[in-house]
Amino acid sequence: MKVIKCKDYTEMSKKAAGLFAAQITMKPDCVLGLATGSTPIGTYKRLIELYQAGDLDFSRVKTVNLDEYVGLDGSSDQSYRYFMNENLFNHVNINKNDTHVPNGKAADLAAEGENYEALIRSLGGIDMQLLGIGNNGHIGFNEPNEFFDKTTHEVQLTESTITANARFFASMDEVPKTAISMGIGTIMQAKKIILVANGSSKAETIYNTVYGPITPQVPASALQLHPDVTIIVDEEAYAAIAEKCGK
Ligand code: GLP
Repeated sequence: MKVIKCKDYTEMSKKAAGLFAAQITMKPDCVLGLATGSTPIGTYKRLIELYQAGDLDFSRVKTVNLDEYVGLDGSSDQSYRYFMNENLFNHVNINKNDTHVPNGKAADLAAEGENYEALIRSLGGIDMQLLGIGNNGHIGFNEPNEFFDKTTHEVQLTESTITANARFFASMDEVPKTAISMGIGTIMQAKKIILVANGSSKAETIYNTVYGPITPQVPASALQLHPDVTIIVDEEAYAAIAEKCGK
């Protein structure tokens, strides 16, 4: 695992966007795994700037998103499909038919999970996966658990995640209690993984991700077993590593 410490959110976002820009330049028809949440917004903003400056071409890029709330369709402004359209897809020359988000309205979520796995396989796998991280160490919507979930599946969100995500909804009651998410196995098959985190609320979980035991209680700790992971954090998210490791 490579950990890159940045002075602030802007630098973190620029560094992450730079890696994605390089990926698109090196392989214009690459498959990007994308993430939602507030953390990647700056990365997407920077990618849009690079596109607007004429430095990036998304016309052959394909994307697969990590997750979606169950029960929300793409027209709902809290859905992750809506988020992706608003924060990236509407602003670059990507073909929307080449952008994929799990269907949270699927009648049969188990079948939707299998179809999503088949879709990723048919695209040739994920070249570069972007991840945020939940305060409890979740990636995608893989919550702390007794085991690592392998493939795309329905998940029960924890109280901690529902509380953290309530800020995007009118009230706590409106936050969906379940979601559909790529599994840890799906994420681990990506060729390269970039995880971004900022702010002091992520410091402990970043330490546990990098230096803690590999345990499904900290889902992101599985990334220690991946051969090509880059973690890009601001100073606040790095603080527990600095304190405990003296660096
Ligand atoms: C949600 C998403 C995750 C994201 C997490 C953290 O739970 N499913 O993919 O990493 O939120 O969000 P934020 O970046 O807003 O802290």
